[in-house]
Amino acid sequence: MVIPGSQHIEEELFQPTEDLQREAHVPDFSTYLTLYKKSTEEPEAFWTEVAKDFFWKSPPAGDILQYNFDVTKGNIYVKFMEGAKTNMCYNVLDRNVHDKNMGDRVAFYWEGNSPDHQVSITYSQLLAQVCRCANVLKRMGVRKGDRVAIYLPMIPELVCAMLACARVGAIHSIVFAGFSSESLCERILDAQCSFLVTADGVYRGEKLINLKQIADEALERCRDRASFSVKKCIVVRHHALRMKKGAASNKLQTPWNADCDVWWDEEMESASEECEPEWLDAEEPLFILYTSGSTGKPKGVLHTTAGYMLYTALTFKYVFDYHPSDVYWCTADIGWITGHSYITYGPLANGATSVLFEGVPVHPHVGRFWEIIEKYGVTKFYTAPTAIRLLMKYGREPVQKYNLSSLRILGTVGEPINPEAWHWYHEVVGQRRCPVVDTFWQTETGGHVLTPLPAATPLKPGSATLPFFGVQPTILNEHGEELEGEAEGYLVFQKPWPGIMRTVYGNQERFENTYFKKFPGFYVTGDGCRRDKDGYYWITGRIDDMLNVSGHLMSTAEVEAALTEHAAVAEAAVVSRPHVVKGECLYCFVTLKDGREFSHTLSEELKKQVRGKIGPIATPDFIQNAPGLPKTRSGKIMRRILRQIARNEKDLGDLSTLADPKVVEVLFSQRCEAAA
Ligand code: WT7
Repeated sequence: MVIPGSQHIEEELFQPTEDLQREAHVPDFSTYLTLYKKSTEEPEAFWTEVAKDFFWKSPPAGDILQYNFDVTKGNIYVKFMEGAKTNMCYNVLDRNVHDKNMGDRVAFYWEGNSPDHQVSITYSQLLAQVCRCANVLKRMGVRKGDRVAIYLPMIPELVCAMLACARVGAIHSIVFAGFSSESLCERILDAQCSFLVTADGVYRGEKLINLKQIADEALERCRDRASFSVKKCIVVRHHALRMKKGAASNKLQTPWNADCDVWWDEEMESASEECEPEWLDAEEPLFILYTSGSTGKPKGVLHTTAGYMLYTALTFKYVFDYHPSDVYWCTADIGWITGHSYITYGPLANGATSVLFEGVPVHPHVGRFWEIIEKYGVTKFYTAPTAIRLLMKYGREPVQKYNLSSLRILGTVGEPINPEAWHWYHEVVGQRRCPVVDTFWQTETGGHVLTPLPAATPLKPGSATLPFFGVQPTILNEHGEELEGEAEGYLVFQKPWPGIMRTVYGNQERFENTYFKKFPGFYVTGDGCRRDKDGYYWITGRIDDMLNVSGHLMSTAEVEAALTEHAAVAEAAVVSRPHVVKGECLYCFVTLKDGREFSHTLSEELKKQVRGKIGPIATPDFIQNAPGLPKTRSGKIMRRILRQIARNEKDLGDLSTLADPKVVEVLFSQRCEAAA
């Protein structure tokens, strides 16, 4: 690897500022290279050093890192610090409160959907609440290894519930509160959850959502299925307690089932604030988080205790160059991996002070993000390209109304960031003072894997730059051959890092097939990637049938399944089309059953159906009637062609493999120009 920019400069390069370098953990590029070398050549020594900062009830029994990444040599596994005993919750709370004397530090500034709702929670308050909650869980019968589904909005109780699970050794499975009852039901069943935590209701922007009702519909839907085992549903009184008294909209009917439902606040009241943590093996599970699978059914990505803990803590510290004076804010929802790793675990492991935001970027006005940054003096800000593009639409004025001089580092995650959005973020939000760390990672990787370090890595807009410590990326061609130097192909990793997923919950075979089968010896990300002359990595997009809408992956298969469940639809094919805010949006082709007619009403019904089955994030932007779909002679739908139709790319190339080339003309003549 050469020092970036040391040769001729082709593209823009943003050097770290001296201001940041002065006190940074990794203050320059050569320090990065030295540490990186150590992390890959002597991983045991590197991670043993990192582990010293944490509390271990007992040390590891043998090798720090054991693994097999080669399906031809047996089962895939990763074991990190096996035999060591620890507890995640103890490390992120008790260690900070008792060993580091940081009990009075604010852990979270909670900012509600409405700007006049806020609460701050210190580390010792959080510890007390978590212990109470852990005792509530134990009293209800939650035991080590039990799965607890959590379907909550962005409120302090969400963090509390997940840490309480960690404390008692239960495995949390958080389901994003924007998912439909059907999605929630599917996840509850797959993980055989025995408890559910939800809330009465929540405002998202202007909209009041009756979460308890959706949760009840989900339970109703699962109840007669063999794997159903939910015994209790704990309901946080969020809407009823935190809404302004007497507000006209405060009329929420919370359905109640006395056999199963209990109120969170009533249970918490009588619970003790003392709770001995359950000491877990390093490799015992911490959580399951579902991610879309290209074959439809979501996969329960399983993360374990010690490796995930060390990895999220270290990436947080280095990628955001964390210092105790920081106020950090990640705008993601805890229902996604970004929130797990970089709202809850990584920041708390470092004793950081964070903002926890319940609302949306444009409510009650389009300057809300900037207002919050000013209000709390946010120094490190982490968001998604889709949010940046959304806010760019309103111009500079709403940003410039606020004082953003506290900002030091900006981050993005979720999808490739287009240079235009990068520049706006850097210039308008960061006032050219703040580096933008473009962090590439996945639910499966647990934490950042390709990322700049803000005081060390010269930046190129649109590139996630270089690997984090311990991560060894490789680019392969279609034949699985490793490509050296400048190259483009499949992004894979040849060795595990501590935070990588361990399996797909309950389905080791699917784990191996999805990530390890295509190229034996490597973890396959599913992303395409280019490496430039400086060794920088540029993600070029998914190479499987996955769609990335607003930074969230979904599979064509799950949307198609939702469409074909409609009585009028015979067949459906879904592709993506670029969208100015969402990055990609869904463009659906539907072939109707005989005798059915396409209409605006049907199109709206289909959109509603997908929304209802999966959730609002999956709502299609376009539905096109397709009397026939382009298929090969063997009957395979040619998505490449559909994608080109959706994008109005007229040069279709070779159509000779099509069974009936005429369908393409028809589809082209009827394509949707603008969203209805
Ligand atoms: C997929 C993972 C990791 C948290 C959010 C998404 C895409 C993610 C970047 C980035 C280019 C990115 C990839 C990846 N992606 N970050 N900085 N640059 N692409 O988690 O839902 O598991 O999605 O998001 O395609 O594989 P996820």
